Amino acid sequence: MTTKTDTVTALEAQHVLQTYKRQPVVFVRGEGTRLFDADGRAYLDFISGIGVVVLGHAHPGLAAVIADQAKTLVHTSNLYYHPLQGQLAARLSALSGLQRAFFCNSGTEAVEACLKFARRFWYSQGVRNRTGYVALEHGFSGRTMGALSVTANAHYRDPFGPLIPGVTFVAPDDIAGLEAAVTESTAAIIAEPIQGEGGVRPLSPEFAAAIARVTRKTGTLLIADEIQCGLGRTGHAFHYQSLGWTPDLVTVGKAIGSGIPIGAALVGEHVAKQIFAGDHGTTYGGNLLSTRAALYVLDQLDALKPHIANMGALFEQRLLDLQRKHPVVTAVRGAGLMRGLELAVDAQPVVEAALKANLLVNRTAERVVRMLPPLTVSAAEIEEAIAILDGALASVKVEGSTVEVRA
Ligand SMILES: Cc1ncc(COP(=O)(O)O)c(C=O)c1O
Repeated sequence: MTTKTDTVTALEAQHVLQTYKRQPVVFVRGEGTRLFDADGRAYLDFISGIGVVVLGHAHPGLAAVIADQAKTLVHTSNLYYHPLQGQLAARLSALSGLQRAFFCNSGTEAVEACLKFARRFWYSQGVRNRTGYVALEHGFSGRTMGALSVTANAHYRDPFGPLIPGVTFVAPDDIAGLEAAVTESTAAIIAEPIQGEGGVRPLSPEFAAAIARVTRKTGTLLIADEIQCGLGRTGHAFHYQSLGWTPDLVTVGKAIGSGIPIGAALVGEHVAKQIFAGDHGTTYGGNLLSTRAALYVLDQLDALKPHIANMGALFEQRLLDLQRKHPVVTAVRGAGLMRGLELAVDAQPVVEAALKANLLVNRTAERVVRMLPPLTVSAAEIEEAIAILDGALASVKVEGSTVEVRA
């Protein structure tokens, strides 16, 4: 019998460029932390579109403002003013302490903008040799040529060289390496306060302090990539605020639209002064629909702060319980509602066992089960997810370095 899932996957197999290795499930509807597939089966969503759908699926308030804006005015381009961009920029400025925002459509575009603004900062002042970047091993900043150039993973990079020159990668925690890598030709250091794609790896306080110290000492700009860890995910408006950083540039994406595509590069005034009309631009960036959605999301995030702190603490405790119970779990990492379980073995069988039991989590950095639930997740949903993970971990038997999945 041909199922609805078969029909969808067969059409994709013929016509969609095969750049994604998808899980064999077709989602058609969502509600809060639940997703429903084409056959009506319900799943607990602990990945939320990779850290995007922070208010949960089909949030009635967000749906209402999107519908209202769609009926009023969606897009006019950046040739003209509209009332919402300035309001959203002011809100982000209040949250970050950085004066200005440039709006775009994705996280990668926010990274591209910051990389360009960092070079422009030096160029405008007549400094022509500060064009390089220092980035971190295990770091991920996107797939376009610029963002890929500061992304460490060789698997993503190698087929696409030559990438932009002058990028030096430093291992997180290699403070001497960091000090040596930053030279008079470095425009900026780019770093995620918690490396997401690289395995949910928080920077150590010592290394984070070294980044702050080196940038201060050399005048090198600091770009905090907050696309995954920012905007409430860890309980802070921005996670860099817990590291004592005062970045010059900040990238924002994912959470800000809770599913409506929008990104932003936040820019300190000293950098903004060196950037001029025509230096950068995008047709869609900051249109009425996406900025209206983002304003609504930011309003909700404010109120969610105590909830995120409580749920984050509960989630951590329960994950630590799993670690105590299952020796295959080698580490519990992350903060707030951004969590990773590092395993002694490949995480894929655990992710697949969880999917079979109706829980969505994701494998990253091979051995890490990554979890990024909606920020509205309840205590009961956390308990439910932990029970499923418990079963998924129990189904994976470790023998030396090989994994066997029990039926
Ligand atoms: C830290 C970080 N930077 C940049 C990106 C790229 O963002 P996007 O996929 O929205 O373009 C991601 C996406 O996972 C990310 O986690």
